[in-house]
Amino acid sequence: MRDKGIRIEGLTKRYGKGDTAVDALKGVDMQVAPGEVVGLIGPSGSGKSTLLKCLGAVIEPTAGRMILGNETIYDNGWKVNDLRALRRDKIGFVFQAPYLIPFLDVTDNVALLPMLAGKPNAEARKQAVELLQGLDVQHRARAMPSQLSGGEQQRVAIARGLVNRPPVILADEPTAPLDSERALAVIKILNDMARKFETAIIVVTHDEKIIPTFKRIYHIRDGVTYEEAGEGIDLR
Ligand SMILES: Nc1ncnc2c1ncn2[C@@H]1O[C@H](COP(=O)(O)OP(=O)(O)OP(=O)(O)O)[C@@H](O)[C@H]1O
Ligand SMILES: [Mg+2]
Repeated sequence: MRDKGIRIEGLTKRYGKGDTAVDALKGVDMQVAPGEVVGLIGPSGSGKSTLLKCLGAVIEPTAGRMILGNETIYDNGWKVNDLRALRRDKIGFVFQAPYLIPFLDVTDNVALLPMLAGKPNAEARKQAVELLQGLDVQHRARAMPSQLSGGEQQRVAIARGLVNRPPVILADEPTAPLDSERALAVIKILNDMARKFETAIIVVTHDEKIIPTFKRIYHIRDGVTYEEAGEGIDLR
């Protein structure tokens, strides 16, 4: 499953019809190897969120191909029957605004997905606390989301996106509310995850603090991507 990472070929997305149609993606090609973290950079309205939503099976593309691992999930139409299962089992989302569940504490917000996937509660919570430690929020493990700062909420949301160890992680501005040290800590965790679990990770960002960490960057402009080598600074 994990041997091919992410492959996108000629992906297009048109919103709406007729006079008001918007061509948000005009033929995107992209490849992310297992174990790789790539940056995706582009101006507002260039199609970044649209691309992540297509890859995450949140919206349907108009045409093209998307391959996750060995599975062609889209080829001018969905190739999987159960899109909910695809989202749950194969894709970890880290969104800009952390949508935490207000009536669950921090640990259970993170442990919920593995619990839903059938893991014993104690084991799921242990896994959650380990991740919270790595993100330096373990001291807030029993707090409710409303009691956290914005940066703490974001780190909990990151832990939640990683906890099921999905083969693909899609992160939209994951470090925006974080200071420099914490932003780099998040990128280090993503890189460690990628290596350890052969995860393919796409990080949408404008964050100057983390851009030098990518070895490879895709730029997107007007719905078209092009690739560039990044600095790939050492994170240790
Ligand atoms: N649901 C929608 N219906 C119609 N047009 C849309 C819809 N969502 C996005 N668009 C348009 O598609 C284009 C790409 O939008 P998208 O949200 O992917 O940009 P983005 O790169 O994520 O921008 P930002 O950096 O501001 O988040 C924009 O022109 C936007 O107005
Ligand atoms: Mg966006």
